[in-house]
Amino acid sequence: MPVCRICGGNLHEFFDFGRQPLSDAFPRPHETDDEFFFRLAVGVCESCSMVQLVEEVPRDRMFHHDYPYHSSGSTVMRSHFERTAQRFLERELTGPESFAVELGCNDGVMLRNIGKAGVRHLGVEPSGGVAQLARDNGVRVRVDFFEEATAADIRSTEGQADVIYAANTICHIPYLDSIFRGVDVLLKPGGVFVFEDPYLGDILERHSFDQIYDEHFYFFTATSVRAVARRFGFELVDVERLPVHGGEVRYWLARRGQRGPTPAVDALLAEERARDLGNPAAFADFARHVRKIRTDLTELLRTLRAEGKRVVGYGATAKSATVTNYCGIDRDLVSVVYDTTPAKQGRLMPGSHIPVRPGEEFAAARPDYAVLFAWNHADEIIARERSFRDAGGKWIMYVPRVRVI
Ligand code: SAH
Ligand code: TYD
Ligand code: ZN
Repeated sequence: MPVCRICGGNLHEFFDFGRQPLSDAFPRPHETDDEFFFRLAVGVCESCSMVQLVEEVPRDRMFHHDYPYHSSGSTVMRSHFERTAQRFLERELTGPESFAVELGCNDGVMLRNIGKAGVRHLGVEPSGGVAQLARDNGVRVRVDFFEEATAADIRSTEGQADVIYAANTICHIPYLDSIFRGVDVLLKPGGVFVFEDPYLGDILERHSFDQIYDEHFYFFTATSVRAVARRFGFELVDVERLPVHGGEVRYWLARRGQRGPTPAVDALLAEERARDLGNPAAFADFARHVRKIRTDLTELLRTLRAEGKRVVGYGATAKSATVTNYCGIDRDLVSVVYDTTPAKQGRLMPGSHIPVRPGEEFAAARPDYAVLFAWNHADEIIARERSFRDAGGKWIMYVPRVRVI
């Protein structure tokens, strides 16, 4: 019986995707022999309700100098993080000695705005390549994994922080105990620890099973975040639902007794109780929908192949590794995937080995259908690629169900 990474309780496994590759490891054509695989399965803790992966991938296999994900690739995300920075500048970083720390700052998409405002800051980012891009954007970065020891070291040289922020990073970190102890060391007594990640409530509702891959270790709810925060002396004091990345929640944590909770916290906790989010039936229902998406998507792609249609993919997302490998989609069904990230182009998709081509080539290629693997950026992409539809092209969506638009 697997056990919970947080509390040691029984982990009830509710979905097994089988052998899966690393989602952000794009091999060169001659490198396909030494791909790393692991068993991708997800479970819920019967004691603390935390949803998590059953197997953990060693962190330096995922986050290293060549980590290819660049946060600034989406205009919508760039303005999302600019607004986030403004909020911190207006509400939390008002003193002359203010200090902000970001975990997983990536290419500096958020911190560059703090830097521009002349406010003291530090990014902690283990992936050296993206950290260099952040530096090019005027951001101070320490190339390191954040954990308890890193926190103690930063405190000794820089002092404590008013804000510790992380976007799409805390859910990537199995060793949450060390993170919380580190935050406890590094945060000022009245400071806030703020993080935002894909919301389990939205994943279950939208059947967005492709949010499950090696890097996404935890799938949070207000209920599970409050429980883990309390174990380490923190209280959940505010929550905000965010529309980005297919539905996220931003959690605001403060030391116990420092700030009172907003009504939004109780409202979300009550909503989660009413939806019975921790109930095994909710996960069984999710599993049924995921299997149906696999059946429908592969049937659609086989039919289109039989009709001689040219089908491509759009967005070599980490999420698409789960879709292609779980559904058995190879270059026979999806000939090529277009993506604007230079570090992914000329490479192959993990496991499926579908070639990745520059996003700029998509319009001229004039395919008949495109599977929108970056569905979380649908508005932005469909608007930019207007000419594809004008020429009769159709988008294939697969969450919450398979459909052609
Ligand atoms: N915040 C950005 C990047 C998210 S990708 C955004 O929202 O777009 C997750 C990032 O977390 C990666 O850049 C990865 O290198 C980094 N990361 C992984 N483990 C980490 C750790 N222990 N401490 C700090 N950053 C970490
Ligand atoms: P994203 O969905 O943000 O994350 P993940 O990899 O964690 O699933 O990834 C978006 C990918 O889509 C990224 O590789 C960049 C690419 N992309 C485009 O090719 N064109 C676009 O217009 C946008 C917004 C993204
Ligand atoms: Zn637990």
